[in-house]
Amino acid sequence: MLKILTVIGARPQVIKAAALSRAIRTNFQNSIQEVIVDTGQHYDANLLKNFIDELGVSVPAYNLNVGSDSHAAQTAKIIIGLDTIIEKENPDAVVLFGDTNSTLSGALTASKLDCPVVHIEAGLRSFNRQMPEEINRIACDHLSTLLFAPTLGGLENLENEGFNIKAPIPYSLNNPGVFHCGDLMLDNSIYFAELAEKNSSILNDLELRPNEFVLSTVHRDNNTDNPERLNAIFRSLNQISKSKKITVVLPLHPRTKKAVDASLNTELYDDIKANGLMKIISPISFMDTIVLEKNAQMIITDSGGIQKEAFFFKKPCVVLRNESEWMELIHNGNNILAGADEQEIVAAYEVLINKTDFTYPGFYGDGKAAIFICQKLIEHLSE
Ligand code: UD1
Repeated sequence: MLKILTVIGARPQVIKAAALSRAIRTNFQNSIQEVIVDTGQHYDANLLKNFIDELGVSVPAYNLNVGSDSHAAQTAKIIIGLDTIIEKENPDAVVLFGDTNSTLSGALTASKLDCPVVHIEAGLRSFNRQMPEEINRIACDHLSTLLFAPTLGGLENLENEGFNIKAPIPYSLNNPGVFHCGDLMLDNSIYFAELAEKNSSILNDLELRPNEFVLSTVHRDNNTDNPERLNAIFRSLNQISKSKKITVVLPLHPRTKKAVDASLNTELYDDIKANGLMKIISPISFMDTIVLEKNAQMIITDSGGIQKEAFFFKKPCVVLRNESEWMELIHNGNNILAGADEQEIVAAYEVLINKTDFTYPGFYGDGKAAIFICQKLIEHLSE
């Protein structure tokens, strides 16, 4: 029996862990044992705990309760907590998702304990090292024994950084194995799409009609913590809702809520509050998010995951960033990079609303990434 220790800590990691846990439960129960550690990086129930319940992730065996702090303190606390757990559990590998501080801490701790690191969502790059996530993902990739790239672009990035994508077996930290596997988030979107329509009442609750609203999310630190960018984004959303007479639904991450309260221009904030078409709401569940994504006219976001979910549900997407890890969607014309420039955001909305020749190539695999990953874990990590 292969024993893996899976580390989660932030909302998107619960989503990815759900796909892996489900594959283990349904197909590999007799060959893989999973122990889950929640670092506690996200502690608000509607950012993490509710997602664990809703998505059917196995209950974490450990919670490090690290909470919010500086990057250094948060990372350090997770390292200290994980160190003891890895020693005690002695897993065959530590499985990490994505690019958060929980990912970085897991990679540092496991690799120093000579425990193989498995990085899921490897190879993604924004080529902007000012992003905390870029540092996390680069470090994690280079400390991993098995790397699973969701896209061909990810695979190419790893090759460009010196990884041998045809490395001979057996794999080790000095000779890592690299795989192109498709995207776990597609596994989930396929699995939950129908369930979500049955379980969510969000369209009724918010009095929304299909294709008659825009879904927007903002949480990247360089958008929330930079008042100029934050104000430009909110001005553009307000302007789109007024000029196009369309509802904009904006579930606010707690980080963004704090930033809005602290830095949004008072006049603009008052105008948004008086604008009945701007619906600013608390963070919502995964099912509600899927239902909003499926039914939106368009999506405007700085989230990595939502950029892709927009594509899964065939919705155009304005990306509130200057670069993306999912450039295939930009090059294919599904998504447009608009940064945090008011005019560019409005212009991108206009371009996408008038575009009729969208295509949806299979950039993210066939929805069976989790099964592929489990097979490779068994193949390459079992003694
Ligand atoms: C983190 C990840 C980011 C990911 C995002 C998903 C890092 C560096 N960033 O960003 O890649 O896209 O999660 O949501 O790991 N806060 C709360 N309640 C919480 C958690 C956070 O109020 O449960 C507030 C706190 O003010 C905190 C701030 O949000 O300081 C930032 O939280 P943090 O976990 O550091 O980063 P995120 O912005 O959530």
